[in-house]
Amino acid sequence: MARIGFAYNQRPPASATTAAGPRTDAPIPDDDSLDASALLALAPDADDEFAEWDDPATIDAVEAALRPLGEVIRLEAVGDFAERLRRARVDIVFNIAEGLHGPNRESHIPAICEFLGVPYTASDPFTLALCLDKARTKEALSARGVRTAPWVLVQDPDDLARAERALPFPVFAKPVHEGSSKGITERSLCRTPVELHETGRFLLERYRQPVLVERYLAGEEFTAAVLGNGRDARVLPVIRMNFASLPEGALPIYGFEAKWVWDVPGAALDIHECPAPVDARLLAELEHLTLAAYRATGCRDWARVDLRLDDAGVPHVVEINPLPGIMPDPAANSCLPMAARTAGLSYEALIQAVARLGAERCGVALAGGVA
Ligand SMILES: Nc1ncnc2c1ncn2[C@@H]1O[C@H](COP(=O)(O)OP(=O)(O)OP(=O)(O)O)[C@@H](O)[C@H]1O
Ligand SMILES: [Mg+2]
Repeated sequence: MARIGFAYNQRPPASATTAAGPRTDAPIPDDDSLDASALLALAPDADDEFAEWDDPATIDAVEAALRPLGEVIRLEAVGDFAERLRRARVDIVFNIAEGLHGPNRESHIPAICEFLGVPYTASDPFTLALCLDKARTKEALSARGVRTAPWVLVQDPDDLARAERALPFPVFAKPVHEGSSKGITERSLCRTPVELHETGRFLLERYRQPVLVERYLAGEEFTAAVLGNGRDARVLPVIRMNFASLPEGALPIYGFEAKWVWDVPGAALDIHECPAPVDARLLAELEHLTLAAYRATGCRDWARVDLRLDDAGVPHVVEINPLPGIMPDPAANSCLPMAARTAGLSYEALIQAVARLGAERCGVALAGGVA
């Protein structure tokens, strides 16, 4: 029987942090008490340090899905991971670890696997580091003619004047290497140079990394998951964001507030429409762009691509997630599992499909799977 190592990062219990992830036991107020002061306490300045990591329910669900394929050995991606991996003698690692620190954090676990000669699922260290840097990703996309909004990378406050001159307003400002919408709030949309300078300085100071300033894409938003490799890579049913589901007056963006503050258990936002209700031509364009982005960045096995239309209805790639969020509870609004469900793939089948894609690439044999 194959030995499957399972690499993950588990979000610390809420008591250990002020992380605002409502999918944990975090002290998120219930619906009625979610007033302005509670919102302010949670965002935009809430401590979102652990927003990328997975909760115990996700980790349990992935382990359960992998069990029919082999013996699963949990390898939490902390501390002496490398030593535990070496001793575990696994045939393959199923990797969802977001990593601990730094702009290459998502690459650390795959790099350790490569160093020890252990096969692993999903993208390699290079692709993971590339996609975590949204500016370098945009360079890779542009070089291949994959449409993405014009941008300026702001390294220090002096660059803000350059961004102001180079891009038409409104613009959108976000940290260059975060995920799960850390640092992306309503104040990311800057309508004037004054707002750009305020937000830009705030983000530089708070996240201690360059700020990506882009043309604001004013149209609809989509996210599209890809499963597979090479010619067999296929786009799962595309999801459209229903911004009408956001609180009245909210901006049409899927940022920190929409993901982590307004979308709480028991009062989930009905924000995802899957399959996206769009005409065949736009769907084909979205799918084409999604696969082009997947290939341009060298993604493997699975990924999720975020897209938006500009004010003329032309689709652009916003960013690529080679370690996509995979919360198992259908009520949890997790995009990739939702797209898989719409395609007729259960959560177990999705996880097993990814394990098999990785195993096939690496010549590892896995056992049966779900009936
Ligand atoms: N140039 C842009 N124009 C308009 N909206 C944007 C732009 N860039 C980002 N957004 C909005 O901000 C949201 C978050 O941005 P992005 O997807 O880059 O961040 P993320 O935090 O890495 O997301 P994820 O949670 O998918 O990892 C997008 O879903 C979109 O609503
Ligand atoms: Mg995104």
